[in-house]
Amino acid sequence: MPANPAARSNAAEGIRAVSRPERMTFIAAEGAGEPDVLKPAIGPVPTPKQDEVLVRVLAAGVNRPDVMQRKGLYPPPPNASPIIGLEVAGEVVERGPAATRLDLGDRVTALTNGGGYAEYCVVPAPQCLRWPRGYDAVRAAALPETYFTVWANLFQLGRLERGETVLIHGGTSGIGVAAIRLAREFGATVYATAGTDAKCAACLEFGASAAINYRETDFAAEVERLTGGRGVDVVLDMVGGPYAERNVRSLAFGGRLVLIAFMQGAKAENFDFTKVMTRRLTIAGSTMRPRGTAEKGAIAQALLARVWPVLDAGRAAPVIHRVFPLAEAAAAHRLLESGTHIGKIMLKVSD
Ligand SMILES: NC(=O)c1ccc[n+]([C@@H]2O[C@H](COP(=O)([O-])OP(=O)(O)OC[C@H]3O[C@@H](n4cnc5c(N)ncnc54)[C@H](OP(=O)(O)O)[C@@H]3O)[C@@H](O)[C@H]2O)c1
Repeated sequence: MPANPAARSNAAEGIRAVSRPERMTFIAAEGAGEPDVLKPAIGPVPTPKQDEVLVRVLAAGVNRPDVMQRKGLYPPPPNASPIIGLEVAGEVVERGPAATRLDLGDRVTALTNGGGYAEYCVVPAPQCLRWPRGYDAVRAAALPETYFTVWANLFQLGRLERGETVLIHGGTSGIGVAAIRLAREFGATVYATAGTDAKCAACLEFGASAAINYRETDFAAEVERLTGGRGVDVVLDMVGGPYAERNVRSLAFGGRLVLIAFMQGAKAENFDFTKVMTRRLTIAGSTMRPRGTAEKGAIAQALLARVWPVLDAGRAAPVIHRVFPLAEAAAAHRLLESGTHIGKIMLKVSD
């Protein structure tokens, strides 16, 4: 039986809290387009199936993929909620019959498959993690999308090791801040790029050994100078085609280029593969959202074992740039698209 006494069995299905309502406020996207398409709406509270739980959302994160979904460029995978939102923190108020690992009332932070901009959100239980020690809902909700992505790409795919060097593009993006902090925490030397001097100063504050304002300096030439011509072991890139040649040029022998987005396009004109072969490089990339529950759950377990103790100790925390009420999701998207933020933009959903 669940620990929470204010709970009742839901026939042969799962367990739910007595207080669970039937209707909720969520952010609807009225067609694809500019941020103004995002409007509060009322709809049914979803029901968790099998190994899913229903989370009463206290806070949700705003991420660049949300902008792509709003614009109609990143449709949710089949069976995922059409509501935007890839990460939430809150408390479990209902669970499916197979979601026995969690109790009603548990405080979780969760990588969702969608549905985060809402008062209630269904999430597969393996994608839930406890709040790190001392965290509130906003800080907890700022973790999943970036920490899952950075772990899977920088450490698993990119095989970043203690003592190696890494170049992180977009150093002040939500992803970039997490990447700098975790790479540094796990013993790598970090170089980062960013578009203003103020952002570069922030990268240094987060743990980068050098930050390159790419609008003023050729990052590949600067990496060559910083590494005495050796290059870095890993490049984490979200810019894409126009960076391809310089990314490869920045890699040391045996280096790995990991692609997680193509903000300036996926195509590289006249790309020369010679260095990939002669310097034994690896070019890899991945997306998080289409992965199945088992794969996301395995990443969650790796994070719990390797990263959560660091967060519990007060290190490598996410950086919160600004928090908006849920109803102001459109304003949150406008800020994200302005590119002036440093760190995460969050939605406060409930107290
Ligand atoms: N593959 C995956 O699984 C995965 C998962 C999550 C996110 N992502 C991707 O990772 C990237 C970062 O996500 P996020 O939520 O952390 O983003 P974010 O906070 O909005 O940051 C994006 C940053 O990238 C820089 N940038 C460079 N070129 C840009 C351009 N053409 N347009 C806009 N920004 C540009 C900007 O900083 P400067 O001012 O320094 O240029 C901007 O602050 C996004 O592209 C996102 O789609 C991938």
